[in-house]
Amino acid sequence: MGSSRLLIFFILPILLVLAPLAPTIVGHHTTGFCTDTADYCWSCVNNGSMQTNNNASNGGSSIYRQNLNTLLSSFPSDPQINPRFYSSSLGEAPDKVNAIAVCRGDVALEDCRTCFKNSVTLLLQKCADQKIAIIWAERCTVRYSNISIFGVLKDEPLKFVPSPNDISNAEEYKQVRDPLFENLSEKAAAGDSVLKFAAGNASVPVTNEIIYATVQCSPDLDKQNCSDCLKNSMPDITECCGTVGGGRVLKPSCYLRFESNPF
Ligand SMILES: *[C@@H]1O[C@H](CO)[C@@H](O)[C@H](O)[C@H]1NC(C)=O
Ligand SMILES: *[C@@H]1O[C@H](CO)[C@@H](O)[C@H](O)[C@H]1NC(C)=O
Ligand SMILES: *[C@@H]1O[C@H](CO)[C@@H](O)[C@H](O)[C@H]1NC(C)=O
Ligand SMILES: *[C@@H]1O[C@H](CO)[C@@H](O)[C@H](O)[C@H]1NC(C)=O
Ligand SMILES: *[C@@H]1O[C@H](CO)[C@@H](O)[C@H](O)[C@H]1NC(C)=O
Ligand SMILES: *[C@@H]1O[C@H](CO)[C@@H](O)[C@H](O)[C@H]1NC(C)=O
Repeated sequence: MGSSRLLIFFILPILLVLAPLAPTIVGHHTTGFCTDTADYCWSCVNNGSMQTNNNASNGGSSIYRQNLNTLLSSFPSDPQINPRFYSSSLGEAPDKVNAIAVCRGDVALEDCRTCFKNSVTLLLQKCADQKIAIIWAERCTVRYSNISIFGVLKDEPLKFVPSPNDISNAEEYKQVRDPLFENLSEKAAAGDSVLKFAAGNASVPVTNEIIYATVQCSPDLDKQNCSDCLKNSMPDITECCGTVGGGRVLKPSCYLRFESNPF
């Protein structure tokens, strides 16, 4: 009995004093899920589920959901638009759906179509009841929202995908990786209204490891917003992946990725 009292009298105050020192997550709120191999990562924004604005002549399914299905399924097959970048809206408020699909800048068109198709299927499965959602695949990004998204800079939802391999020379890596990203960010931001993408590599002194990197913005962003999105992500890269040899910082408007092998 005495010892348990001791415990309460001595341990509890210590815990109370230490509690505020416990690591608090500063900065951003990261979110989302990935498949086991991280080929696809997604985030459904919980901003009120689908409204019950139902269409009686269609088994009572939500009109937003119907608009969503129609709009997204038209993306991979619509031959009239640039096949690397789709942006479109369908329906009337409050059931209006806005969607954007962006293919990675260096991927073959055929792979873009496959990526869009698979991503749309997965997105509709994983985020079925949400009005806002995004999927980042290795080769493309697809997102939708009931709020207008075209040309709008969005930093969240934010997803980190660090590689599992730790490095011992984190500081040397950073000294090479950050300037590489800054260089690529400028190049990507200088792109046009259908493609804002850049890829490059640089080698780490002493170990001669090569860092391969890509950055991309949604091409509907203007130059300044693209540049802001990527530059604002530099601290995120450190936070996400500062101690490992690769990883991805994923946002709706842009992403950055680096690896120790070409990808
Ligand atoms: C949720 O919806 C409100 C009202 O439309 C909007 O102002 C807000 O930005 C939305 N939240 C997110 C995370 O998009
Ligand atoms: C988007 O959906 C949310 C949640 O249902 C709603 O509160 C908001 O008003 C909608 N915004 C627009 C622009 O329709
Ligand atoms: C309701 O569903 C029918 C059949 O799918 C469709 O023709 C009609 O346009 C839908 N109405 C609205 C308001 O979406
Ligand atoms: C950049 O993004 C902001 C915020 O989304 C948007 O309001 C603005 O129109 C965009 N363009 C410029 C030139 O700032
Ligand atoms: C960016 O990379 C190019 C080569 O791709 C190089 O010529 C240039 O000096 C680099 N700029 C910076 C600021 O590192
Ligand atoms: C590495 O970058 C150089 C130019 O900076 C380029 O010529 C080369 O193809 C790149 N290598 C790979 C594998 O991307």
